[in-house]
Amino acid sequence: MNKIIKNTFVENFVENHGREPRVSITTFGCQMNEHDSEIVMGLLNERGYTQIDDRDAADVAILNTCSVRENADKRFFGTLGQLKKLKEKNPSFVTCVCGCMMQQQHIIDKLKTSYPWVDVIVGTHNIHTLPDLIDNLIEEKQRQMEILPEAVEIIEELPSQRLFKHKALVNIMYGCNNFCTYCIVPYTRGRERSRAPEHIVQEIRKLVEDGVVEVMLLGQNVNSYRGYGEDGVWEFPRLLEEINQIEGLERIRFMTSHPKDMSDDLISSFRKLNKLSKYVHLPVQAGSDRVLKKMNRRYKVSDYLALIDKLRKTVPEITISTDIIVGFPGETEEDFEGTLALVERVRYDSAFTFLYSIRKDTPAEKFREQVEESIKHERFNRLVDAVNKISAEKNREYVGRTFSVLVDGFSKTSNMALTGRTDGFKLINFPVPNGLDGEKLIGKVLDVEVTEAKTFSLEGKLV
Ligand code: 5AD
Ligand code: SF4
Repeated sequence: MNKIIKNTFVENFVENHGREPRVSITTFGCQMNEHDSEIVMGLLNERGYTQIDDRDAADVAILNTCSVRENADKRFFGTLGQLKKLKEKNPSFVTCVCGCMMQQQHIIDKLKTSYPWVDVIVGTHNIHTLPDLIDNLIEEKQRQMEILPEAVEIIEELPSQRLFKHKALVNIMYGCNNFCTYCIVPYTRGRERSRAPEHIVQEIRKLVEDGVVEVMLLGQNVNSYRGYGEDGVWEFPRLLEEINQIEGLERIRFMTSHPKDMSDDLISSFRKLNKLSKYVHLPVQAGSDRVLKKMNRRYKVSDYLALIDKLRKTVPEITISTDIIVGFPGETEEDFEGTLALVERVRYDSAFTFLYSIRKDTPAEKFREQVEESIKHERFNRLVDAVNKISAEKNREYVGRTFSVLVDGFSKTSNMALTGRTDGFKLINFPVPNGLDGEKLIGKVLDVEVTEAKTFSLEGKLV
């Protein structure tokens, strides 16, 4: 039996405008959010909405929000201001907001009192109800808001409008139990829930049938994946092993890992599984035991370094990236020098650096001794210089070597060049060889020789 989908909004719209409604979605934040947006678009697509990029030409605009740092909050409210102007020009324009910020009461209060033009508000745990809420808006002619305090169940088989034909984001777990003291995620995404392994494997099989060659397995802390399979509990390495056997799939990546849960089994998966990319994102956050303790990270600098050594010993060619926070409350010059020393010791391929940003209702919000802004910025600049210098040096070591590259598309700056990623997740650009149709190379895994190294990317040529 076909699913019967309520479709008041689209039917009304087509009747009044003689065409289908256009929807634009703006995504802030992490890949988890990117994937939620793909699902929302998949659901709306099923109902007859057309996706467009240009928000000014849309009939429905959706903002999928992030609350991890203050910057994203600010950008969200800025964008909302722009939507108000669109609404003033066209009163039937529909504004929807969803994602992590909607799980914070002070944000909801602000939207209620100061942003009356927002039509639909939905949280992270029931994002799939957004299309129904747009329908209800038309029927009930009043603002729709649905926020669940916590997740009820994992909904399977949601459609997804993928950004790329050849690669896909796949959620394997939701939520986080770690409660790092600076982080809002455990409050906005709830407790850890792992999808059943059979559902994940089935989803990837279908994706492969649809042309996908690379999957990125997503979770706040994939290392603590524990899925209830028909034959008992599966931990993450077993899930990887099963996915590795899917015929037609070429590459598996995952993110994010917590250092405290990086098991020996998982480390040996990098050796054993031919499709698993030899790349790991392993956030360290700080290089001082005192700060790590106050962050509730549950490892010491020495544990982290031992883990890096073990990874490199088992998988010498592995590339490693990290996240680092600068200016956590109480961070001294000495603590910060510990972070610099750790960066020099590990020599990351790349590192995402963040200024500590106070998040309401997290434990660190209450910590006294906030670091002065000017000191935070000064340390941040020193860290970025150190990180970039090492990235550039590491990239230079690649020149003259050949890597298999999954081609993602045309480069941002030229339609005569293609861009892709090496197995180790390095971004590489190379010219389309004379006589070849670049379009046909997208989604293929090709051998590319590195000819030049930059700080954040490589240049190469097809061999
Ligand atoms: N301030 C700054 N950075 C943060 N992150 C998470 N919370 C904060 C915060 N309050 C960073 C961490 C995390 C990454 C996704 O964002 O480094 O790993
Ligand atoms: Fe936030 Fe820590 Fe959970 Fe990562 S592990 S999502 S930083 S609480």
